[in-house]
Amino acid sequence: MQIIKLDAIDSTNLYLKKLMFNTQALDYTIVVADKQTSGRGQMGTTWVSEGGKNLTFSILKKFNNLEVSDQFELNICISLAIFRSLNELKIPDLKIKWPNDILSGSNKICGVLIENILSGSKIQASIIGIGLNVNQISFNNLPNVSSLKLITGIQYDLDELLKIMAKNISAVFDHYFAGNQQNLKTQYLEHLFRKDKASTFLNNSNTMFTGIIRNVTNEGKLLVEEEDEIFKQYDLKELKLLY
Ligand code: BTN
Repeated sequence: MQIIKLDAIDSTNLYLKKLMFNTQALDYTIVVADKQTSGRGQMGTTWVSEGGKNLTFSILKKFNNLEVSDQFELNICISLAIFRSLNELKIPDLKIKWPNDILSGSNKICGVLIENILSGSKIQASIIGIGLNVNQISFNNLPNVSSLKLITGIQYDLDELLKIMAKNISAVFDHYFAGNQQNLKTQYLEHLFRKDKASTFLNNSNTMFTGIIRNVTNEGKLLVEEEDEIFKQYDLKELKLLY
């Protein structure tokens, strides 16, 4: 596994994408930066992280024959790999918030941005960007955000954490390609935040509604049971889970 360490970069996802196109980087190449000047989050947001305190890295995963229609399975693999890593460190009350945030209690401690490089209906490779809040202890009063240090009081070694994450990512992909897709989906659902609980959501016309998360479809949509036992499917642009 090749690890490229940078002091500062705009975004490790962007760096790895350029590397992939320019040099045909190897499977599982990792780019890790102390500081990102334009860290990117899901849905066009920015990912802000105090330099030197957190783990901000991207890992390249190449595929031979993965259909675009299976892309949600990548979210399942990565969420579970991060979940297992944090479980090894005994971080309490871990949950996966659909599609791929990792929470402790109801606070986000890790975010994931997966960018796929396509060739027709196949995914040639994925750039998997991971931002884990580790030793940062102040988040400017941002709600529902935390870090490993805020949770356990321990100061963590970032290199050690990266090793644990990389080990679990490759182990989960091995498991996936050995034919365990269904088993991984079952584990993902077991850890899904607010599954089978009454929750409040905001739809894209900013209206609040209540419902119960029942499942995630194979395309990665959230299946919500609403009043009168009506089931509706939503993608990430269509709703926000409030509580
Ligand atoms: C999210 O919005 O939850 C996803 C955040 C992903 C952040 C990571 S940090 C390393 C990698 N490089 C980026 O620019 N973003 C991802």
